[in-house]
Amino acid sequence: MEKSRFYLGSDHAGYRAKEALQKFLQKKGFETIDFGTHDESPSDYPDFAEKVGKAVASEKGSFGLLVCGTGIGMSIAANKVRGIRAANPFDASTAKAAREHNNANVICLGSRTYPIAKAKKILEAFMKAEPSKEERHLRRVGKITGMER
Ligand code: RB5
Repeated sequence: MEKSRFYLGSDHAGYRAKEALQKFLQKKGFETIDFGTHDESPSDYPDFAEKVGKAVASEKGSFGLLVCGTGIGMSIAANKVRGIRAANPFDASTAKAAREHNNANVICLGSRTYPIAKAKKILEAFMKAEPSKEERHLRRVGKITGMER
């Protein structure tokens, strides 16, 4: 992955993990733009998924990182935004596959489902992988895009 821009968002459950992952991304040389939330008071994950999804969809080559308790709500919500392929990988190998096979442009992580050290490993695998150029993967991702029409 080129050192592109990451848009970030979390709800209250993902707030602390989002803060830690933001620092991690910055250390790796990525520019980050944080859409909140900015504290642990209750908030609604779809609000952040929508903001991050729209930003990623409107800027070619950018990525999104969304954190909630499980990453599930964020991925369901972000995938409603046209142009978003949000994945909720549960380990480094599924994060790699999300980039290689699915050309995912948003990664959704859980703050309550694994420790932050594992979240960093998952995010790192996502960053290091590139989308496959193989025809079958391009065709399948193209079919996903086709569903948006
Ligand atoms: C908040 O309690 C929790 O439901 C949310 O963070 C997320 O896990 C939803 O998918």
